[in-house]
Amino acid sequence: MGPLRFRLLLLVGALFFALTAALGRKPIISTTPQPGALALVSHGSPVANILVSNDDWPGVIRAAHDLSADFGRVTGHNMTLVTGGKCEKTAIIVGTIGNSSLIDALIAAKKIDVKGIKGKREVFQTQLVKNPTAGVAEALVVAGTDKRGCIFGIYEVSEQIGVSPWYYWADVAPRKAANIYALNTQLLSPEPSIKYRGIFLNDEQPALTGWVNANFPRGEWGPGYQREFYSRVFELLLRLKANFMWPAMWDSMFAVDDTMNQQTADMYGIVMGTSHTEPLQMSTKEWNTFGNGSWDYSSNSANIHKYWEKGVERAKPWENMWTIGMRGNGDNYLGNNLLTELLEKVVSDQRGILKDKLGVADVSTVPQVWCLYKDIQAYYEAGMRVPEDVILLWTDDNWGNIRRLPVPSEPNAAGVYYHFDFVGPPRDWKWINTVSLQKTWEQMHLSYQRNAREIWVVNVGDLKPLELPIDYFLNLAYDFAQWGPANKVHTYEQAWAAREFGASHADEIAEIVSLYGFYAARRKYELVDPSSYSLINYHEAATVLDEWKALAARADAVHAQLPAAQKPAFFETVLHPANAAYALHDIHISAAKNILWAQQRRTSANALAEYVLRRFGDDHDLTRAYHGLLGGKWNHMMDQPHLGYMYWQQPMRNTLPPLAWTQLQDPGLAGHMGVAVEGSNGTVPGDDYYNAAEYSNNTLVLPPLDPYAPVPYRTIEVFSRGTEPFHFNITPENPWVHVSPSTGYVHPADPATDATVKVSVDWARAPAGHSIAFIDIASTAGYGDFSAPSVHLPVHNSAVPASFHGFVESNQQLSMAASHATRNTSTGDAYYATIPRLGRTGDAVTLFPVTAASQSPASGPRLEFDIFTFTVPGHPGANVTLHLNAALNFIPHRPLRYALAFDGADPRIVQFVPDAENPLDMPPGWDRAVADGNVWKSTTTHPLARAGEATLKVWALEPGVVIQKVVVDLGGVADSYLGPPESVVV
Ligand SMILES: *[C@@H]1O[C@H](CO)[C@@H](O)[C@H](O)[C@H]1NC(C)=O
Ligand SMILES: *[C@@H]1O[C@H](CO)[C@@H](O)[C@H](O)[C@H]1NC(C)=O
Repeated sequence: MGPLRFRLLLLVGALFFALTAALGRKPIISTTPQPGALALVSHGSPVANILVSNDDWPGVIRAAHDLSADFGRVTGHNMTLVTGGKCEKTAIIVGTIGNSSLIDALIAAKKIDVKGIKGKREVFQTQLVKNPTAGVAEALVVAGTDKRGCIFGIYEVSEQIGVSPWYYWADVAPRKAANIYALNTQLLSPEPSIKYRGIFLNDEQPALTGWVNANFPRGEWGPGYQREFYSRVFELLLRLKANFMWPAMWDSMFAVDDTMNQQTADMYGIVMGTSHTEPLQMSTKEWNTFGNGSWDYSSNSANIHKYWEKGVERAKPWENMWTIGMRGNGDNYLGNNLLTELLEKVVSDQRGILKDKLGVADVSTVPQVWCLYKDIQAYYEAGMRVPEDVILLWTDDNWGNIRRLPVPSEPNAAGVYYHFDFVGPPRDWKWINTVSLQKTWEQMHLSYQRNAREIWVVNVGDLKPLELPIDYFLNLAYDFAQWGPANKVHTYEQAWAAREFGASHADEIAEIVSLYGFYAARRKYELVDPSSYSLINYHEAATVLDEWKALAARADAVHAQLPAAQKPAFFETVLHPANAAYALHDIHISAAKNILWAQQRRTSANALAEYVLRRFGDDHDLTRAYHGLLGGKWNHMMDQPHLGYMYWQQPMRNTLPPLAWTQLQDPGLAGHMGVAVEGSNGTVPGDDYYNAAEYSNNTLVLPPLDPYAPVPYRTIEVFSRGTEPFHFNITPENPWVHVSPSTGYVHPADPATDATVKVSVDWARAPAGHSIAFIDIASTAGYGDFSAPSVHLPVHNSAVPASFHGFVESNQQLSMAASHATRNTSTGDAYYATIPRLGRTGDAVTLFPVTAASQSPASGPRLEFDIFTFTVPGHPGANVTLHLNAALNFIPHRPLRYALAFDGADPRIVQFVPDAENPLDMPPGWDRAVADGNVWKSTTTHPLARAGEATLKVWALEPGVVIQKVVVDLGGVADSYLGPPESVVV
């Protein structure tokens, strides 16, 4: 091997390493020798010790034990941890500046210089030091500015030697290595971007609670949410460099279920709070179990006051984030009207309790948060204020759309409470992951840039099925400079895949999880039902199902190639969700088809019903496979019912949607052949529901076809509707119409012989303008009481001038992705940015920077779509529908608006998220918008006097307006969920 090739290999190795080291961080570890590097593991055995001072934080010493075991995970041999006494010649020295005699001695001897990090919060520095201490020739020194800084440094080494933060919670296989070196380099970690960042375990039944009860002793008062369980969660959070948590609260009491829980959190280094509805470290269940009287501060303040005092006294020794304020019991409205005076008294009394019980001179030094969840936000908007030292925690609408963000005139520091899981109306979403990381980036980027940086806490339900979104959210919160200012979602997905599964499959896995988030965000699984996607228009249901099928196949293919050790993690984070989502969609879409086919009296309706039953079995098998994994490690984690929702709350058991069967013993009244066409639910002969008025008509009409149809053919289906097999013959009466296949043999015993026939037109030969083509369909088995059926195809042979470039009308409609606009006119202060896969059918476009001022059509940038129409719409004109992301009016007095105009017409300005009618509630139409995959559809009508070329102009007038697509209806738009497929561009 020549020296150049060798160098190239080294370079490739370094790049490979940079990708797998730790998410987004500079490599400090290598598995190949490098100049100046220090060997930590050689030939499979550790050749260094871990050195930590006895006087360091117990939480640091505990994390150092994890590092010792992490070397064991990677090499098979734990690295010896030394807290005093004799040490090997090389070492990893870890410690907290000012709290570790080891580290402080190194600083005093000027062997390390920590000026660059001193005084910063949760920061660490790593480097090699020669002769750091007596008997040690060289060491990798990890110094933290404080307890968590040091712990993060320790876990940085763990991640870089090959132990994923998810080694336990997602069974990510440690990356085995026989040689490990510490590079001769210095790493200064960034100060975390968000001060308090963490998760909320919530709605944790049946899955997480079932698992907890099966694995940990139950407590006196309920489920086993005790210290062994929480230790696992705290460790995960610290490995993810998070520091904050709200504990499970549905049926548990953090401080009571295990009286060591609070102390354990503190020892680990996690700052505990209680959820937004549980003030002063007292859980809701505590009041319901031990409280005296009603949860009503207007009538029972003395008892509630005493109860809160207890919470403060109890949590006093530990690091806390104190939730203040009050909501109704059970996370309900405090009152039907604003009770502002009462809530102000609550806050003032709570601060009094904090001051007294903590014995502080100045209560503003105590970390406090007021969460403006649901109705509580209305108090703020109505003018209620809390002292400036209290953090305001703004929230999303439970569906990932931030309701409100700080404005510069507000003095309080701010944060965000976000949801990756939710229980409540319009529908629970709590089964498996449905989070779009693109959406998460868009909303959290907005939050960060608009100064909500003090707390980010995300509701993660059962924790387990949300590994990827949790990892992303906490990385974004820890190092926003790395992941946040520009959209790096896909880079992150690749880095995540490389860390968890190695570089060789990383790109494919990253693409799978990216597509997964894109598809899943279209509609929460709990809201998918047989009516969700159109069976008859735009091939919509079939397209959606094909996408899931292809995705599951890609996941299966990767799974087959992975080594056995990596399969469990892949199953949990990629394979199971892809296959479970595919099965769920298959069940609903195939059930819908079964009902339609039975209405069409198809023989194969019955086989389809059997197929749905099999898929119902597959759904259960997937659950069982999850539960059986690794000897039952995750039993109960998929206990969540997800099929059979009737209203917002979960069904108590999985149930199939209705199915229908056809009588197959006797022939029907209309022969053995049935014919159906796209765009219609009817069938001929007879049973033409679509044209019920013309029951005896034997003709079906296809949707019109023209040269610019996004799908350049129409489909006819020929199927068995009786007991005899038959040959069919399809004969177009016009020589310029083609059908394929034109003949076939259909057998009632074999559903696969039902035929789909494509009808297309030879446009060079077809007559110009409008005409109707006739297609005759003959069967060898007769037509019962009817005559031979036929199909009509309206044809419009049109042409745009060669000089035109842009979108072309087809069948009285246009559909255009905002990201495909013909032009956009970005100005100096504001411009359009494309966010990949943020729309339901593709990319979306938004106005940047998100701190931009309000725009006007006169000066703001616009998107322009050059279009060509053939149809002059009747009065009152063309309906133009924008599909916009379900954002909310998050800046006071600056509602989200867009403007729209054809050519030189006056722009029409539209506020598409209405104002709420009642300040306690969400805006009208919100339920529909979030249920429909987080999309507002906003329609305006515009006169169009003539056909031909036109330019449609669209302005986003506020940051936060995210445009997915624009649909122009000139009379032809048919019902569908996602809208018409995109128009042809010439
Ligand atoms: C390595 O450390 C872990 C965690 O402390 C421990 O469970 C395990 O038994 C140790 N392995 C060996 C070989 O000592
Ligand atoms: C068939 O489709 C038409 C038009 O969309 C609709 O009005 C009718 O209710 C449908 N009939 C059945 C039986 O689904």
